[in-house]
Amino acid sequence: MENFSSINVKKLKENLFHLLDDKWMLITAGSKNNFNMMTASWGAFGILWNKPIAIVFIRHNRYTLNFIEENDLFSLSFFPGKYREILKLYGTKSGKEIDKMNTPGLTPIFTENNGIYYKEANLVFICDKIYFSDITNEIPMAIKKQYYPDNIFHKMFIGKIKSCLKKTEEIR
Ligand SMILES: Cc1cc2nc3c(=O)[nH]c(=O)nc-3n(C[C@H](O)[C@H](O)[C@H](O)COP(=O)(O)O)c2cc1C
Repeated sequence: MENFSSINVKKLKENLFHLLDDKWMLITAGSKNNFNMMTASWGAFGILWNKPIAIVFIRHNRYTLNFIEENDLFSLSFFPGKYREILKLYGTKSGKEIDKMNTPGLTPIFTENNGIYYKEANLVFICDKIYFSDITNEIPMAIKKQYYPDNIFHKMFIGKIKSCLKKTEEIR
């Protein structure tokens, strides 16, 4: 597991609000020969149907969307600060334009059933997709104006957290 240990999510000490909003994450889905990832900072962690879950919100024009739709698993990877440039790149360039599968500096690790994460990450959630829904109805008008002027909405995916992997060193 490349220096990762499996951890019970209830034992996590990291502030996930801070990690999401300030550090960002990579959402990855696909298979060994055909996968894609994108930077995300919108999401949630919680409990649903008595299981720990993560929620992500993917806009319909993201290349990553189809990979999440087509696969059972998606992963959420958090990184040390020195990978910020990669997160910026994957938050601005699409897998439609660049080859994200072969990025220098990022080493994918493949689990059984197409869980994909990175050797360089320091905290990873492998999620099993259990629910999805389009965010289109009942969006307050002010939010719609601010975030959806072009009517490209988000699709919400809820994943049951199948495993949480943490590097031994502290998250920076
Ligand atoms: C900090 C940051 C956070 C982002 N969060 C999200 C998000 O939560 N959902 C989303 O759909 N796009 C988000 N994006 C935009 C995508 O990462 C971006 O459009 C990316 O190029 C999509 O890649 P893809 O087309 O290869 O999937 C974010 C971008 C940045 C820089």
